[in-house]
Amino acid sequence: MRAIVNTPGGPAPVELRDVPEPRVGPNDALVSVRCFSLNRGELRSFVNNEEGWVPGQDISGVVLREAANGLGPPSGTRVVALTDEFGWAERVAVPTHRIVPLAGNVSFAQAATLPVAGLTALRCVRLGGALVGRRVLITGAAGGVGTLAIQIAANSGAHVTAVVGHPARATGLNELGAKDIVQGIESATGRYSLILESAGGDSLSEAVKRIEPKGIVVVYGNSSAQTSTLSFQDFRMAQNARIQSFFYFTSGPEEMFAPDLALLVSLVENGKLRPVIGVERNWSEISTVAELLRDRRVAGKAVLTTGGP
Ligand SMILES: NC(=O)c1ccc[n+]([C@@H]2O[C@H](COP(=O)([O-])OP(=O)(O)OC[C@H]3O[C@@H](n4cnc5c(N)ncnc54)[C@H](OP(=O)(O)O)[C@@H]3O)[C@@H](O)[C@H]2O)c1
Repeated sequence: MRAIVNTPGGPAPVELRDVPEPRVGPNDALVSVRCFSLNRGELRSFVNNEEGWVPGQDISGVVLREAANGLGPPSGTRVVALTDEFGWAERVAVPTHRIVPLAGNVSFAQAATLPVAGLTALRCVRLGGALVGRRVLITGAAGGVGTLAIQIAANSGAHVTAVVGHPARATGLNELGAKDIVQGIESATGRYSLILESAGGDSLSEAVKRIEPKGIVVVYGNSSAQTSTLSFQDFRMAQNARIQSFFYFTSGPEEMFAPDLALLVSLVENGKLRPVIGVERNWSEISTVAELLRDRRVAGKAVLTTGGP
């Protein structure tokens, strides 16, 4: 079968090649992949993994062969799944407890945006507790996680302020539910109950200066790759506020991935969550799409299609 394999040191970071069929365990369904999405973290994984490794966490497609254990959706079911790796392939073996069926009105492209980015947005927003009437600040708001987090926080009753890097990145964020949009966190005024911070560097230092007493700054990324300066004095006006790290993979018990993913799918099905797909291309264009994402030129999520049956 065809798959995207890691080619560190090659002319492109990854390329489409022939690889062996996946090994399917008794608890795995074999899924024919239609779409997958690309995460910023996966750009780093190209560098950190060996030649020939097949990346891929966010996949959608059709169950080709249901699992031998009799669990999970039957053959022919349209699904979305969270895989640890190997998802950027024509076919992938997925444990049944990581698979969620799709409603007919949720497209493969929409579904592929949900696993990593959707679970991160959902669970980071939840860390803020009851958000009705609360102020929430989201950095990296125009990105994959940000565009989903704006909607989930706004649907929860929060007053959402979105931080973007430049004016063009603000397009469409009001429609998603952002009440205020600021260019750079330095322009954000007042204090916030919950801040979702993924840019790192000065952005994290500035976030701490804007949290309210007992509020939470959720640190889930470091897109800038910069370090941050913090001081106890920064909390003088925000006493007992917390900085909370978030790693989606260990953010909840294994058995909760599918229920949370199913919740995200149902929000899309009911029109309460609209995945923003800034780029949708055939997977032969993966290197171009990776560059667009690296250069902050993708609004929302980047989705690749395999053109599979
Ligand atoms: N901890 C976890 O479990 C977890 C899960 C998912 C993602 N993440 C991390 O969270 C971050 C956001 O993920 P994502 O999928 O939403 O990424 P994304 O789609 O690439 O969005 C990142 C956003 O960050 C903003 N940004 C600000 N400063 C940046 C910089 N120096 N370099 C690059 N982008 C910068 C960009 O907005 P402007 O162009 O408007 O400035 C961009 O829209 C990434 O660092 C990712 O690795 C972590």
